[in-house]
Amino acid sequence: MRVVVGISGASGAIYGVRLLQELKNTGVEVALVITGHGKEILGMETDIPLTNIEELADVVYSDDDLTAPPASGSYLFDGMVICPCSMSSFSKIATGISDSLITRAAAVCLKEKRKLILVPREAPLSTIYLRNMLVLAEAGAVVLPPSPAFYHRPRTFDDLVNFVIGKVMDSLGVEHQLFRRWGTE
Ligand SMILES: Cc1cc2nc3c(=O)[nH]c(=O)nc-3n(C[C@H](O)[C@H](O)[C@H](O)COP(=O)(O)O)c2cc1C
Repeated sequence: MRVVVGISGASGAIYGVRLLQELKNTGVEVALVITGHGKEILGMETDIPLTNIEELADVVYSDDDLTAPPASGSYLFDGMVICPCSMSSFSKIATGISDSLITRAAAVCLKEKRKLILVPREAPLSTIYLRNMLVLAEAGAVVLPPSPAFYHRPRTFDDLVNFVIGKVMDSLGVEHQLFRRWGTE
């Protein structure tokens, strides 16, 4: 399986890192794109050097490189996850603006009917964001806000992050052990 992972400039950079770690553990091939603001927030919210984060991927492309393979529908990949996804990138995708590699690869997913999973982080949500969420859900994207559940009795910060990334892995169709499922011991 080959997946494009995008990290854009929303709070919750740790979700993107955790996703990359989990995809590496499960042997999924990953092409990574991080926006400029995404890199800035990774630096603010984590102590992990950017090079270590990029090493989790098989290949890294620059967000301003619109000649990179994921910009084309002829490059075969199974799906894309943008995690976290800023409202700016989210809104661009909802309106068809493709002026960066992240937004273009997402547009490719929609037109080619490939899986697109968006993890938008903002609160509260304006009517503009809510409308854009409906637009993208209707276009076939999975809109997966990072809202952990509490029925599995999370004890640590990691438990909360793992729950969200487990839901992303479920949407991708990749097996994981990130949380205990309801109805299991
Ligand atoms: C510290 C910091 C935190 C931010 N958090 C969010 C956020 O949680 N959600 C959001 O939509 N935008 C957030 N922003 C604003 C985005 O970074 C900004 O809209 C940017 O243009 C997004 O660009 P990108 O989507 O190309 O990364 C944040 C900005 C900063 C500096």
